[in-house]
Amino acid sequence: MKIAVVGTGYVGLVTGTCFAETGHHVLCMDNNLEKIKRLQEGQVPIYEPGLEVLLDRNIKQHRLEFTTDLKEVVDFAQIIFLALPTPPNEDGSADLSYVLAVAERLSELIVRYTVVVNKSTVPVGTAELVKAKLKEKLPLELFDVVSNPEFLREGVAVEDFLKPDRVVIGCDSTKASECMKELYEPFVRQGNPIYEMDLRSAELTKYAANAYLAARISFMNEVANLCEKTGANVDLVRMGMGSDTRIGKRFLFPGVGYGGSCFPKDVHALYNTAKEHEYNFRILEAVMEVNKTQKLILIQKLKKHFNDQLKGKKIAVWGVAFKPNTDDIREAPAISIINSLISSLAIVSVHDPEALHNAKEIFKEQIRYAEDMYDCLEEVDALLIVTEWAVFRSPDFEKMKEKMKNLVIFDGRNVYDTQKMKQMGFNYYSIGR
Ligand SMILES: NC(=O)c1ccc[n+]([C@@H]2O[C@H](COP(=O)([O-])OP(=O)(O)OC[C@H]3O[C@@H](n4cnc5c(N)ncnc54)[C@H](O)[C@@H]3O)[C@@H](O)[C@H]2O)c1
Repeated sequence: MKIAVVGTGYVGLVTGTCFAETGHHVLCMDNNLEKIKRLQEGQVPIYEPGLEVLLDRNIKQHRLEFTTDLKEVVDFAQIIFLALPTPPNEDGSADLSYVLAVAERLSELIVRYTVVVNKSTVPVGTAELVKAKLKEKLPLELFDVVSNPEFLREGVAVEDFLKPDRVVIGCDSTKASECMKELYEPFVRQGNPIYEMDLRSAELTKYAANAYLAARISFMNEVANLCEKTGANVDLVRMGMGSDTRIGKRFLFPGVGYGGSCFPKDVHALYNTAKEHEYNFRILEAVMEVNKTQKLILIQKLKKHFNDQLKGKKIAVWGVAFKPNTDDIREAPAISIINSLISSLAIVSVHDPEALHNAKEIFKEQIRYAEDMYDCLEEVDALLIVTEWAVFRSPDFEKMKEKMKNLVIFDGRNVYDTQKMKQMGFNYYSIGR
């Protein structure tokens, strides 16, 4: 099939590349000229493991191309995926202006039957809004609108896309849904389901999934905080809980709160959708509140350790990305942490294996950027571990000791064994242990 993806970011680029990998012809479009130029030269503008190899292969085999021209997209494709941003408005609701602006342009350009698939995370009812936009200038028989929310996780996005747990297709046209099933069939050979449903249910499924995962994180952070108060160990509690098959082991790790481009905005947007429908989704209010305080839990511990005196203290931060294996720092807990350190007049040095370039965009000259994780520790009073990158798991502790002025570590991801750290002479604080 001839497929186009409008919006070539974390989701759009992975989507386009993976469809090309199964033999389709894909045209990816973005209005960011620089991004498209780099892609046309074969450069991947984001860090996503496994993407480069696929991208390179599919470009060389002429199945994957890039453009900035939406007219080219319409002329080329039978199916157009929208993978556009849906950032939060000031009140936390989803900003649909990107999606609706492109829908409007499509209504002016489409001249033959086209399936418009929304892959962005959008509130219930958006498909109807997109339909209405298209209908303003197009006869109904020239288009169908599908909701196909994306569940990939950054860091393992390629794997997730190629082997999804499930595919959700919201649709009210048999013609479009047959087309979608054919497209996804190669990805579900191992028997994972394709769920067909109405448009509204598909849209809500995505938010409900993300909000539930965020709720698990906030719940475990509360459990961890209670462990600290009661002298219990959250590692043991987590294992005891997670082995119950009704609960499951995943997504039970306490830490410095959830971040990233999805959970914070999606929880808030779902809360707002409920409010618009005069429903008070009380759990979500608590999930957000817990997360807000949890993001600064290391700062609380740090201040307690240094008797509220952070002025002039040299603090190293390992990890800026919101999670390992991505360079994405949108809404990352590290941002709140570093901002708080800066406003407390601490002297901050940071290291991240992939995300320093994005950190520089935000913090500019306010902090020091260390390309090497040990250089970051030069003469520091304390180290904060904010992202659990694999390289932080088994560091050279002797080298760390040589570099650090004080052997104090605040670990927001429970990376190390508490006993071993004590034996090695570190003053080691973690979460819920
Ligand atoms: N990142 C994730 O892990 C993830 C996972 C599932 C769903 N989602 C959802 O997918 C959507 C996209 O997320 P993302 O992380 O890929 O965003 P992103 O910001 O990385 O990418 C969006 C792209 O759209 C481009 N764009 C903006 N306006 C455009 C226009 N008028 N025409 C063409 N291109 C335009 C931007 O330049 C950017 O490259 C969001 O709704 C998000 O919630 C994201």
